[in-house]
Amino acid sequence: MTTSSEVYKEPEKKIGNVVLEVRDLRTYLYTKWGVTKAVDGLNFEVREGETLGIVGESGCGKSMTALSMLRLAPKPAARTVSGQIILDGEDILQRPEPEMRFIRGQKISMILQDPMTSLNPVYSIGNQMVEALGMYYQGEDNKGLKGRAVDILRKMGVAAPERRIIDYPHQMSGGMKQRVVGAMAISGTPRVLICDEPTTALDVTIQAQYLRLLKQVQADTGVSIIFITHDMGVVAKMCDRVAVMYAGKIVEQGELRSVFNNPSHPYTKALMASVPSMEHAHVEKLYSIEGQPPALFDLPVGCRFANRCEFADAKCLEAYPPMFQDEDGHTADCWRLEGQWKKVAEATT
Ligand SMILES: Nc1ncnc2c1ncn2[C@@H]1O[C@H](COP(=O)(O)OP(=O)(O)OP(=O)(O)O)[C@@H](O)[C@H]1O
Ligand SMILES: [Mg+2]
Repeated sequence: MTTSSEVYKEPEKKIGNVVLEVRDLRTYLYTKWGVTKAVDGLNFEVREGETLGIVGESGCGKSMTALSMLRLAPKPAARTVSGQIILDGEDILQRPEPEMRFIRGQKISMILQDPMTSLNPVYSIGNQMVEALGMYYQGEDNKGLKGRAVDILRKMGVAAPERRIIDYPHQMSGGMKQRVVGAMAISGTPRVLICDEPTTALDVTIQAQYLRLLKQVQADTGVSIIFITHDMGVVAKMCDRVAVMYAGKIVEQGELRSVFNNPSHPYTKALMASVPSMEHAHVEKLYSIEGQPPALFDLPVGCRFANRCEFADAKCLEAYPPMFQDEDGHTADCWRLEGQWKKVAEATT
């Protein structure tokens, strides 16, 4: 852990082969209002040691995407109706449910926004960790598992872990609880760690510490991270690549630099304009995106952002745009790119 007098040095990044490939993932919720298309044809991949950011407004389907990847979308309403989630070459959507208990935690794991959702208030954190670790290290005795728990807590920046291990969740601060949850999520040495808004409940200093910790864990273990947030500032700090989600779809995706230097979907531009910056600190009013996203159970046939887009014309209302790509592999679904970027996929709705 760095103190304010030390200069923080970014850990070195090593990005390897593709670990996770998500193809045409669709998770729909069957409700009394109709079919809510929360995840509607997503395509993305994540490499070893890489961090992919998924960013978008509230309700666009980020958490449902994460839960679908763990096959934990709320039943019976939610159903993953199509797609592939290929992890280390194997489509986990095809695995029998009992096997998922081992895939979750050891192959793919998740840190939730609210640590109390993942912690049990009536057990000490040591007991909870030993129980989880017991699943991964079958046959190891309690003492060995406890030793592992202490090591992982130390890795997640918990001071004096051998003493803290007997504490109950209510005896810890929010930041400390989130570290414990992080420790539990990495205890099975997963290949992919999904972080769903893990720092929203933390104050900014603790948030910065937590983000550094995740980077350090990534540098040490090579874990791939999918970082879900609505905060473009956090994306800039954490991610190598970014996927921008709007109304159940990824509307733009690319290398961080490419998307930040050349945001090409009007929604991404609007998201970036709504981030406060020092340069524009004198501007009295913060930019906000007018209007509301469409209801996911009553989607328009055309571009889903059209009703809020200053550039929308008749074509945008008539048909969802194809996916266009520039020479760097940066993609966006927007009719305005027709003729400028290469068309790589027909519209999927
Ligand atoms: N249990 C549920 N039953 C029915 N609809 C749901 C359920 N959970 C979520 N939804 C709907 O699915 C859509 C996607 O929700 P999701 O939680 O994935 O959004 P999100 O992008 O994570 O938003 P936030 O930033 O607020 O966390 C929303 O329209 C939401 O209303
Ligand atoms: Mg969410």
